[in-house]
Amino acid sequence: MLQEKVLIREVGPRDGLQNEKQMISTKDKVAWINQLSQTGLSYIEVTSFVHPKWIPALADSLDVVKQINRQPGVTYAALVPNQRGLESALEANIDEVSVFMSASDTHNKKNINKSMDETFPVLASVVSDAKGAGKSVRGYISTVFGCPYEGHVSIDRVVHTAEKLMEMGIDELSLGDTIGVATPNQIEEVIKALTHTIPIDKLALHVHDTRGTALANVYQAYQLGVRRFDGAVAGLGGCPYAPGAAGNVATEDMIYLFNGLGVDTDVSLNQLLDSAEFIHQKVGRALPSHNLQARLASGSCKE
Ligand code: HMG
Ligand code: MG
Repeated sequence: MLQEKVLIREVGPRDGLQNEKQMISTKDKVAWINQLSQTGLSYIEVTSFVHPKWIPALADSLDVVKQINRQPGVTYAALVPNQRGLESALEANIDEVSVFMSASDTHNKKNINKSMDETFPVLASVVSDAKGAGKSVRGYISTVFGCPYEGHVSIDRVVHTAEKLMEMGIDELSLGDTIGVATPNQIEEVIKALTHTIPIDKLALHVHDTRGTALANVYQAYQLGVRRFDGAVAGLGGCPYAPGAAGNVATEDMIYLFNGLGVDTDVSLNQLLDSAEFIHQKVGRALPSHNLQARLASGSCKE
């Protein structure tokens, strides 16, 4: 049997809420993050320091970070697109900075208003200054497996983007299936291409579940040696600048899978489901998490 610990990166408070129609109050976000902090998760991406006109749902980022109760052993991270965002992130004393860009020019432009070539120097200066301020830095590449505007994205382009980000000194690289198009064979192709030059323990997988392949892709990446996985509690998520993107793989569905495989995650499925129920009530719509639906249908769920 496969047995090795995986690191779960909870992105629900950021990716999960950034595209939600129902505005969640600062108080409820803080209460939810505080609950998540008690589940055994060691990493929570709590918000984004982006322009509030671009992502209105996260306009209260500074208040959220200042009001949460930080638990020892939990890394609190936030998305940062540029120096202006880094200033706020440092003011909030966030633990980890996440820079982000796409592997396709059109999505990059729609998302952060710059071409890919214009973005590299911006991120290089953010990474350098964040490191100088003693922060760890995560890098995201979006549209790794397909772009909502350009369709196919070449592996060469992904490798080039990944190598540029690694050269900047990021500590971890998260590969985004932004619109949920990947299948396990593609996961294998991309990971094999990247690991010619990038150690596999630097890679994380960030999948959205638009076409129902997310968990299969997680399992495939696990089999290939990836040990870092992003998820959003309740299966929340989506990028406003990627039309048609569904939510992230539900964190609790990944935990259920890894529990069944005998792989340690340190996360309590039951407590995670409590936090899924909490946010489900706040957003007020049906959410895609299978384990949440199973709990709601049965009234209970045993780990
Ligand atoms: P811009 O309009 O090009 O910015 O937006 P600018 O540099 O030209 O500045 C214009 C004004 O914005 C200035 O203010 C700046 O100070 C202000 P003014 O002088 O006019 O009063 N400004 C800011 N304000 C607050 N925070 C900032 C900031 N930067 C500039 N950080 C910008 C460029 C990057 C800001 C904008 O495009 C933006 O905020 N984009 C965010 C998009 C986003 O968050 N998308 C979702 C996250 S990515 C994702 O979901 C994918 C992922 O999950 C992985 C996957 O699934 O693949 C990570
Ligand atoms: Mg995402």
